[in-house]
Amino acid sequence: MWAARGLSRALRACCTSAPCPKPARLPRVSVRDALVSQEPGENVKVQGWVRSVRSQKEVLFLHINDGSSLEHLQIVADPTLHGSNLTFGCSVEVQGVLVKSPYKKQNVELKADRIEVIGHCDSKTFPFKYKERYPLEYTRQYPHFRCRTNALGSILRVRSEATDAIHSFFKANGYIHIHTPVITSNDCEGAGELFQVEPSSNMKKLGKNFFDVPAFLTVSAQLHLEVMSGAFTHVFTFGPTFRAENSQSRRHLAEFYMVEAEISFVENLQDIMQVMETLFKTTTETVLSNCSEDVELLHKFVAPGQKDKLEQMLKNKFLIISYTEAIDILKKGSQNFTFTPKWGLDLQTEHEKYLVKYCGNIPVFVINYPFDLKPFYMRDNEDEPQHTVAAVDLLVPGVGELFGGSLREERFHLLQQRLARLGLTDAYEWYLDLRRFGSVPHGGFGMGFERYLQCILGVDNIKDVIPFPRLMPTPSFAQTYPDEFYYQFAGSV
Ligand code: 4AD
Ligand code: MG
Repeated sequence: MWAARGLSRALRACCTSAPCPKPARLPRVSVRDALVSQEPGENVKVQGWVRSVRSQKEVLFLHINDGSSLEHLQIVADPTLHGSNLTFGCSVEVQGVLVKSPYKKQNVELKADRIEVIGHCDSKTFPFKYKERYPLEYTRQYPHFRCRTNALGSILRVRSEATDAIHSFFKANGYIHIHTPVITSNDCEGAGELFQVEPSSNMKKLGKNFFDVPAFLTVSAQLHLEVMSGAFTHVFTFGPTFRAENSQSRRHLAEFYMVEAEISFVENLQDIMQVMETLFKTTTETVLSNCSEDVELLHKFVAPGQKDKLEQMLKNKFLIISYTEAIDILKKGSQNFTFTPKWGLDLQTEHEKYLVKYCGNIPVFVINYPFDLKPFYMRDNEDEPQHTVAAVDLLVPGVGELFGGSLREERFHLLQQRLARLGLTDAYEWYLDLRRFGSVPHGGFGMGFERYLQCILGVDNIKDVIPFPRLMPTPSFAQTYPDEFYYQFAGSV
């Protein structure tokens, strides 16, 4: 059952042939593996943090969690093993025998013969208490401890599983994974939401740029993926992305993770949308089957009703409407919007929400946006007088925009004209080269990974689906995070 079993036998044999003053070096098993053990009777050790201590006259019960599963492992021991340091929250190493549990709730428990407290925890001053259930807003005040709560534990396990599922999806479909740079000189989206990268001191004094040109943290890997799509027909990347957005919304971060794909020899948006939809559905099915307990906990306590909403999303084919249709729907809508919908203006969050609701809470692709609204790289639909580009956003319930993508302008002359009008020709000469030499029709998309997790789990605030949220410090931010505490912590991680 366990990889270290052979080792365990060898060590036990060693301990029987000569006196051994130290406790036997038993194989470590995770709580997750222990709980599914089919072969009780094994001598093992388990390491983790105490989630409950219950001492009765005849028996001591502990629950241990090590992050490998939502469920804890029950430890049963003689009450004499209950030292004063053995409290809720402390870290322990427990040795003993796995036995079949007489209790219905679990298959296996650990009959302990040794409990060692590794790091004690003063449960009076520890901010989390035994058996209390805390709202996510409360746990957010303790970014260094919140991973020890059930909810964050589940979210982070789902995040890990979803990461894996996304990589598997692309691998299974023949995509090459490209590591794109974090530091770059391009502003792919042209929105000016850039963090500039400068050396901290010496070079600054010389009055020149460290990288010869101004350098920034990437806002999108797209342009680098486009380079790669000149050699590999299917590429993807999945990495940290940075936007200096002065936005305190519950769906914006300054540092987030984006999944991006670029596909060559693609001539219509339909093909791109197909990949987006399959990526969403395949990844979600994998997460639901591999993390069912974690998802269940979140759907039950954090987002009641989310299970049905997600089923609807998975079961139905995603809808498609054009931007022009979207504006018509909004104009005819009964709602009084803060931002009046008008052809040529961006869709606001309130508009996105309305459209998703209007579509029966099924994810909806909005395609063909106004030319003037979108970045230089999007393919001109040449449909004057309306004049749109082959862009697509996927709007989903609860979140709004989850994916953004487009066909790219692969025609040299059209791209050259557009760059010239924007005064970007010199900076993007290399990008024009891609169209000079072996250009192909191509397109791709980016999916905000945190928004994806919000969407499937029903988590309202994006700060709760990333281990360490980074966002713009503002007065409202300072209210959530006690200032000096946060900055002290931020500096140390
Ligand atoms: O729509 P965006 O800006 O698209 C691009 O960057 C394209 N260059 C991607 C591509 O075609 N390769 O961003 C893509 C997605 C958004 O739909 C949203 O889900 C997420 O990234 N996103 C954010 N997530 C969290 N915080 C922010 N500040 C975000 N900005 C965008
Ligand atoms: Mg977008």
